[in-house]
Amino acid sequence: GLMLTAAGMLAIGTSAASANCDDGEMVIKFSHVVAEKGHPKGEAAVLLANRINEEMNGTACMEVFPNSTLYDDDKVMEALLLGDVQLAAPSLAKFEAYTLKYRLFDLPFLFPSLDAVNTFIQSDNGKELLTVMEDEGYTGLGYWMSGLKQFSANKPLEVPSDAAGLKFRVQTSDVAVAMIEAMGASAQKLAFNEVYSALQTGVVDGQENSWCNIYTQKFFEVQDGITETNHQLLSYLLVTSTEWLEGLEPEVRDQFLTIVGEVTVEANADVANKEAACRQNILDAGGEIRELTPEQREEWLSTMKPVWEQFESDIGADLIQAAANTGS
Ligand code: LMR
Repeated sequence: GLMLTAAGMLAIGTSAASANCDDGEMVIKFSHVVAEKGHPKGEAAVLLANRINEEMNGTACMEVFPNSTLYDDDKVMEALLLGDVQLAAPSLAKFEAYTLKYRLFDLPFLFPSLDAVNTFIQSDNGKELLTVMEDEGYTGLGYWMSGLKQFSANKPLEVPSDAAGLKFRVQTSDVAVAMIEAMGASAQKLAFNEVYSALQTGVVDGQENSWCNIYTQKFFEVQDGITETNHQLLSYLLVTSTEWLEGLEPEVRDQFLTIVGEVTVEANADVANKEAACRQNILDAGGEIRELTPEQREEWLSTMKPVWEQFESDIGADLIQAAANTGS
């Protein structure tokens, strides 16, 4: 008996993933910080919500809150434990308060390609890393890849020494800080939703992110250009509260986890395409992209790779070796 006005239909129509939850349905709120459209995480979240709302109709109902509209990535971790949201997908760089193991994923030039990442996350090592935060109350449900990261700044960057003296925004990651300092630059940790204005007002000179974040957040519009360094992975942990997950009825949990697993595989298989499209969109919008010569790439690599040693004891030398050898 739900009557909708034209305005109401429009409001609902603009957010494909925001379902009308029925009485008695368990509500699953998913809060994230990126764009809903044209972004690997935004679209994976919509895909997940659509499947849950169709296949678990009557039992569960998922609502997605994109673009930091509900929480930023710091606050969402508390919200998960409080039961205010049930799902989040912060970047693996943002879990330092809970585990130092995920520093692995932030090591510069660890993975040569997204294919190598895909192989690693399906390995025993990758799967074991999903549960390292259970003592803190969090369970990882899967890795959602986002892409490799590129540098941008308010002046041309061809080799790392071009960054000397500049200030770069980084995620809340000490690995990123060490990497930026190895370039002779300084790092400032900022929430994702503060980056555009920090670039625009000159609070920071540059940043590093995936093609789809650079495009959908319009960072390229307030930067001189983007240097195609592919220096580091951006990947998310789809994460939930261990208590919430364990409290589900077994059949409900099984169905939920099956859908999550399938959506994860489907979304990851399309990340490279989405990233290529975002790269092209930047070019089409007049953004400048600088490709590296093999010699220049070697300079980025030799500047950043020594950072690995600083974090070896947090991660474990064997795990680093296993990840670095993936796909080779
Ligand atoms: C960032 O803070 O740059 C990213 O983690 C944002 C995101 O979720 O892609």
